[in-house]
Amino acid sequence: MVDFIQRLINILGASAVMTDTHETKPYLTDWRGIFQGIALAVVFPKTSAEVQMVVRLCIEHAIAIIPQGGNTNLTGSSTPEPIGQQIVLSLKRLNQIRSVDLENQTMTVEAGCILQHIQEKASDSGFLFPLSLAAEGSCTIGGNLATNAGGINVLRYGNMRDLCLGIEAVTATGDILHSLRGLRKDNTGYDLRNLLIGSEGTLGIITAAVIKLYPAPINRCAALIAVNDYSIMVNLLQELQRKAANELCAFEMMSRASLDLTVQHFPQFANPIFKQSSHTLLIELAEFSTESRSSQILEDVLGKALESEQIEDVLVSTSLTQVKQFWGVREHITLAQAKEVANIKFDISFEISRIGDFITHTCDLLCKSYPGIRIINFGHFGDGNLHFNMCPPIGSDKSFLKTNEAEIHRIVYEQIEKYQGSISAEHGIGQLKRNDLEHHRGPTAYKMMKQIKHALDPQNILNPHKVLL
Ligand code: FAD
Ligand code: MLT
Ligand code: ZN
Repeated sequence: MVDFIQRLINILGASAVMTDTHETKPYLTDWRGIFQGIALAVVFPKTSAEVQMVVRLCIEHAIAIIPQGGNTNLTGSSTPEPIGQQIVLSLKRLNQIRSVDLENQTMTVEAGCILQHIQEKASDSGFLFPLSLAAEGSCTIGGNLATNAGGINVLRYGNMRDLCLGIEAVTATGDILHSLRGLRKDNTGYDLRNLLIGSEGTLGIITAAVIKLYPAPINRCAALIAVNDYSIMVNLLQELQRKAANELCAFEMMSRASLDLTVQHFPQFANPIFKQSSHTLLIELAEFSTESRSSQILEDVLGKALESEQIEDVLVSTSLTQVKQFWGVREHITLAQAKEVANIKFDISFEISRIGDFITHTCDLLCKSYPGIRIINFGHFGDGNLHFNMCPPIGSDKSFLKTNEAEIHRIVYEQIEKYQGSISAEHGIGQLKRNDLEHHRGPTAYKMMKQIKHALDPQNILNPHKVLL
C-alpha cells in the first residue's frame, strides 16, 4: 500500500492526499453519524484528468473508490465501508464554473461547486438556478446530480434530472465521457446522462455538468396556512395549480409535532399560527412580471378557504424578509431532529390522491403500538414526498430505537407497499436502504440494475455495495 499511496502523491501532489486519521475523520462518517468507515486515503483531484488518473491507478491496484461531494446525504452513500481497502475521492477542489451561456440559459459547472455558489452566480447574471434544499450551503452539484436531488421547488422546476442537459464523467474503466452539451433535444441512442444521474457514484464519477438557468422572479410571495385535513390540502394544491400554474413553486407541509420540535430547539422561529391546527402549509408563489397577480391569487384562494372554514387561519407575507422567516422554520426541521437522542427517517412518496390515507392509517398503527412516539411528519406535499420521521417518546433514550426500529420499519414499509408508494423519494438508497431495494423494485428491475452495474463497472470499483448489495 505504501507504493499505492506514493503513486497517488505522484499524480496529485502531497497536499491532495490525506492519510492522517484525525484529518480524514469527517470524510469517513455520514451527516447523521450513523455509518463509520475506514479509508486508505482521502484524495482531492483538481481536474477531470486527475480524476481519470486516480481511477486508472485504482483499477491497477484493485482499490475501490467512494466519490464524495459535500457529504450531506442522508443514506450513508458517500461513506466508505469499514474494511480499509477503499479511498474517498472528494470532488471539493474540482470547483470551477467553466462558463455561463446566457443566450442558451445554461451554465457549465464542475462537480465540486457548492450549490449555493451556483445559485449566487446565476442570480448575479439575472437568472435563477432553482434547485434549493436546506443543505445548499455545503452540498455540491456533483452530489445533487448523483442523488437526483429534489428539494422545495420540484413542483415547478422538477428534480435535478430535469435541470441538467449535459454531463462529463470518468467511467469505472478509466475513460472520460464527454457529453457536455447544452442541447434540449438529443435522441442519439441510450441516455447515458440520465443513467449517471441518480446512480449515487456507482456507475461513474461526474466531473462537470451543463445545467439549466431560468428567468429570475422579480418578487416572491409566501403564505403559512393552518389546516387540519389532508383532502383540503389536496384541494388547495389543485386550486392554486389551476389559478397560478406558472407562479406556484413550493407547497410544503409541516405537522404540529415537527413544528413543536423545531421551535423547541430554535425558538426564534415560533409563530402563533403553528398552534391553530394539526398542520401548517408553507406555500410560495413567484412573480415573473410586473402584471403578476400572486398576492391577489393567494388572497382570493385562501380568503375563500377561510370563509368556508376549510382552513383555520392564514398569514400572507408582506416582504421578502418575511418570506425568508417563513422558510426558516421549514429549513430547521432536520437540524432540530438531529439534536434529539435518536431518530428514524423515512423519505417516501405517494400519488397525491393516496397520501392522506397513508398518513392517517400509518400514524394510527404506530401510535397504538408505541404510545408517545413522536411522528415528525413534514415534506414536499405538492409533489407527494413525505419526510415521515420519528423520534422516541419524551423521556425514552436510544434504547427505544434499538428495541423497536425493526418493527417500526416493518409497519411503515408494509403501509408504503399497501398504498403503492416509493421507499425513497429523493434521498436515494445508499447503505441505508440497500437491503430493501430488491423487494421494493421487484426481481426484474433489480436484475437489470445489477446487469447495468456489471456492464459499466466490471471490477466493482465504484462505490461498491451502495444501492445494490
Ligand atoms: P454527498 O453526500 O457527498 O454524496 C451523495 C452521493 O453522491 C454518494 O453516493 C456519493 O458517492 C455520490 N457523489 C457525490 N459526488 C459525486 C460525483 N461528483 N460523481 C459521482 N457520484 C458522486 N436531499 C434532497 O433531495 N432534498 C432535500 O430537500 C434535502 N434536504 C436536506 C437537508 C439537510 C439538512 C441535509 C443534511 C440533507 C438534505 N438532503 C436533501 C440530502 C443531501 O443534501 C442531498 O442528497 C445532496 O444532493 C447531496 O449532495 P452532496 O454533495 O453532499 O453529496
Ligand atoms: C428536507 O426536505 O428538509 C430533507 O430532505 C428532509 C429530511 O431531513 O428528511
Ligand atoms: Zn426533502
